[in-house]
Amino acid sequence: MKRSAYSLGLSGSNQEMRVERLDVRGHFPAWLTGTLIRNGPGAFVVGQQPLKHWFDGPAMLHKFSFQGGSVNYASKFLETDALRTSQEAGRLTYCEFATDPCRSLFKRTMTLFSRRPTDSAKVSIGRFAERYLALAETPLQMQFDPDTLKSVGVFLHEDNPIGQMTTAHPHFIDDSMYNVVIRFNRICEYRLYQTGHNYRPRRVAAVSSAQPTYLHSFGLSPRYAIIIEYPFTVNPLNLLLWMRPFIENYQWQPRQATKFFIIDRHSGELVGRCESDPFFAFHHVNAFEQDGELLVDLVGYPDASIITHFYLNRLKDADTRLPHGHLRRYRIPLRQRQRVKYETLATEMLEMPRFAEDTHKMRADYRYVYGIGLNRAQPNGYYNQIVKLDAQHGDARTWYEEGSYPGEPVFVAAPNSQSEDDGVVLSVVLDTHTQRSYLLCLDAMNFEELARAELPQALLFGFHGAYFGA
Ligand SMILES: [Fe+2]
Repeated sequence: MKRSAYSLGLSGSNQEMRVERLDVRGHFPAWLTGTLIRNGPGAFVVGQQPLKHWFDGPAMLHKFSFQGGSVNYASKFLETDALRTSQEAGRLTYCEFATDPCRSLFKRTMTLFSRRPTDSAKVSIGRFAERYLALAETPLQMQFDPDTLKSVGVFLHEDNPIGQMTTAHPHFIDDSMYNVVIRFNRICEYRLYQTGHNYRPRRVAAVSSAQPTYLHSFGLSPRYAIIIEYPFTVNPLNLLLWMRPFIENYQWQPRQATKFFIIDRHSGELVGRCESDPFFAFHHVNAFEQDGELLVDLVGYPDASIITHFYLNRLKDADTRLPHGHLRRYRIPLRQRQRVKYETLATEMLEMPRFAEDTHKMRADYRYVYGIGLNRAQPNGYYNQIVKLDAQHGDARTWYEEGSYPGEPVFVAAPNSQSEDDGVVLSVVLDTHTQRSYLLCLDAMNFEELARAELPQALLFGFHGAYFGA
């Protein structure tokens, strides 16, 4: 293994801090007056126990507040039971994605019902009915105070969440939050929930499955919810017995199809079931109906091997070759049952996809998708460029700087924006030369740098964030 310079973003732990007025190079737009809050792992070691996978670390929140061209920064570990008990014990006390507590110290046998699902909600950020939420794949979503980043409490999807998983990417639309929960039992179910401002989740629909898939997100169009069962599935008995960490119970089944379940999200009726050739995706991008078809855009991979590439020892290797995800459009005929086909919308690789969600979610005319990828001349190692894809014409713009490793780019529209890409994208970038990170601000239209704000530490590579206007 050739240890990479960017291993800095995948090792050790971050400090909690508060910094007024970061050093700024260039000019952040004067209209940028809100807050970007990001989520991700704050450590890759718990006490003496090293963690194995990018998705294992305890959640840390990072807040960037913009005012008059200056940027304030604060970071804080999300206060959870998992963090508190792990710190007290000096080792992991909850089951994480690919690392379990040491069995000989913790408990010789664990089962789905005795294990403790982590409340370390480390994946994404949402705001619902004025509540700020740190979100993950276990149903223990955490509410936090956006001023102090202190935890407020657990926000539940269901009364009894034991043994369930959910997606880290609920949809916030029409004063509702939609999410899918996976119920493991003798008969497993994908359950679509809608939560209104009374905070009481309502089950909209349920689809049974003998061997559920690993589900990180799902699709929503004006009329439908789209649940995709990739052939990366688990025998629920293996989860019940819990002989190995969560994700290691899942297996790629190359001869099985990928299944699409189409739910009318207003009536709850399962209106379509169809199949495609096998593929895997973490992230849906957008979905809409057009001319009798349901169009589902996502970042597709030929198989689920991307998950094993995210083990830390593999990801730190400078020579690692990450599988390439591409922006795909699946066309689902709504009136006939036939095999689903896709087209690749752009040849540039893509992960951590974002777009102008506030204005163009579920719209057929949406055009631009932002994300991270690998520079064609430097295709080894961790993601090293920011991309902007044109979903209508397949063109790409890229931002690349040698030695810099960016995270998910979040689009922020300019006030009274004149076009879909009138605004900026914000990305936390690790600079391996200075061994620190910076917050980069690009003009979303031409992808030129407007400004960067220097951070006093190298941030561990995170996952998702959200911008909240002032
Ligand atoms: Fe995600």
